[in-house]
Amino acid sequence: MCGIVGYIGKRNAYQILIQGLHRLEYRGYDSSGVAMIAENGEMNIYKAKGKVDALEHYASNKDLSGNIGIAHTRWATHGEPNDVNAHPHFSQSRNLALVHNGTIENYSVLKEALSQQGYEFVSETDTEVVVQLIEYIMQTNACSLFEAVREAAKQVVGAYAIAVIEKSNPDRIIAARQSSPLVIGVGEDDFFLASDATPIIEYTNKVVYLNDGEIAVIDRTEGLNVYDINSNDESQICITELKMSIEELEKGGYPHFMLKEIFEQPKTLTDCISGRISADGSQIVLSGVIEHKEKFLNANRVIIVACGTSWHAALIGKHLIEDFCRIPVEVAYASEFRYCNPVVREGDVLIALSQSGETADTLAALELAKSRGAFVFGICNVIGSSIPRATHSGCYIHVGPEIGVASTKAFTGQVTVLAMMALLVGQMKGLVSDEKLQKVASDIRRVPALIQKIFEMNDKIENLAKIFTYAHNFLYLGRGYNFPSALEGALKLKEISYIHAEGYPAAEMKHGTIALIDNDMPSVVIAIKDNVYEKTVSNIQQVKARGGKVVAIVTEGDEIVASLADYVLEVPEISECLTPLLTAIPMQLLAYYIAVNKGRNVDQPRNLAKSVTVE
Ligand code: G6P
Repeated sequence: MCGIVGYIGKRNAYQILIQGLHRLEYRGYDSSGVAMIAENGEMNIYKAKGKVDALEHYASNKDLSGNIGIAHTRWATHGEPNDVNAHPHFSQSRNLALVHNGTIENYSVLKEALSQQGYEFVSETDTEVVVQLIEYIMQTNACSLFEAVREAAKQVVGAYAIAVIEKSNPDRIIAARQSSPLVIGVGEDDFFLASDATPIIEYTNKVVYLNDGEIAVIDRTEGLNVYDINSNDESQICITELKMSIEELEKGGYPHFMLKEIFEQPKTLTDCISGRISADGSQIVLSGVIEHKEKFLNANRVIIVACGTSWHAALIGKHLIEDFCRIPVEVAYASEFRYCNPVVREGDVLIALSQSGETADTLAALELAKSRGAFVFGICNVIGSSIPRATHSGCYIHVGPEIGVASTKAFTGQVTVLAMMALLVGQMKGLVSDEKLQKVASDIRRVPALIQKIFEMNDKIENLAKIFTYAHNFLYLGRGYNFPSALEGALKLKEISYIHAEGYPAAEMKHGTIALIDNDMPSVVIAIKDNVYEKTVSNIQQVKARGGKVVAIVTEGDEIVASLADYVLEVPEISECLTPLLTAIPMQLLAYYIAVNKGRNVDQPRNLAKSVTVE
């Protein structure tokens, strides 16, 4: 949520900052801005409401010189999205400029105190308070920017990643982090700074992840030094080599990242499985689980915390773990879990499930569980992100960068890892026979090819989308393993088309929701051949009897549902526990094409951000 970019070196900063903002736009896109110290020594700030393109347009006839700068793309928290509230923010004397990701909880107290000292505020943001506080400390203590940022960091309460530059010292960027991510790229003779590695990767693959409570001094001649904010002790700098490729960050000929990411799933799931299932399906290797085998074997229960799409994957994970491991599983919204004084004890295993690895609520939930003695395990996508670094162990889903705000390939990657994990733990507990393991693990290996086959229906789904583009409401029904799939199908549609959609357990529908069914309320019903197939068929009949239109997602060759439903989308047969990996695909495509028909901004839907680093 909000993206930060910074550059110091010999090149022109502006192009690097703008390109970086484009890469980070998925984190927020209601306004953006840059601050650069120009060749004439002036500090220029350019800001514009709207997407980064608007900023580029605004800045096109301005002085864009300078080889040091910071930039920001915003997802508004304090103050509406407009030019004034956009970052960077100047200090009163205009000697400092600052960008910030996070929220400062005590900003009104600080603002009041600074106002009494004569500081005037032009924006409604919490961020402006931080830059004014730093300037106040510099002036009253007659100290350096570094010392003032360190002192200010001790006074502010909340989450922040900040970067500050100083007009009178154009050779340094000072950055600090508490609960919001910051990565520093180390180039040949320059440094890059960003909220994640995506803006950095085209310049260098060497990065340093700043830890919570650290402050970095990035100096043109002295290089990078990192200190602990409280003790001022120098931290050891640990350089990580990134393996991400620049192609992964491009659209690759697709009109939207979302479509590219949907079509990438055969490859991303192959990567996710790679090296983890033996060729004959007889063995599963997840080192993060095997190394902590005892924790899983002795677990009293498993708690999975997650948000959004990851929460839906967690619900499927519950079925998988309970089915194969016979361990009770609770699934909690991370935002609820952290504030409900949850009963967590030693012997509990908490799984934090998150694509970005940065979701503030999920991170806080895992810290809470850790403090109460749970073993915490992360399942994330973004390598080196905050959650994997805060957990005792974990597994990456390895599906590559997901840029489209609506999650697609991360969802199927999460379900795949949860399936492998449940099988492995079940086998270690002696509850999954070799034959069962081999059958399901071999089926996991078939998933990429089966998804490829589902893509043959792409044109059919595109045409179907035309029929439903102007629906105002949608119902998504599913049962068992595919009840969470129904929730996810509905979320996909809501997120990108802004059509109201509700996911519901198919049988529960008759206890209220059925009252909504009429000619104008289409239902997507997941009616694959599972252990409740006949009952789902009855649910379809109930919808049809009330004049509802039904799009059914069925197992290949199902003639019974085909004779009842208005439209049928077939998916190949596979082990029941893996069906959500296949049923997700037509629902992702349906949501995508409906949103495109409605002219929506599919990759950057209104009000959303991909990485939610605020509460
Ligand atoms: C945001 C995104 C969703 C995502 C959710 C959780 O709301 O728009 O797509 O599912 O955050 O994110 P995480 O990175 O923790 O999976």
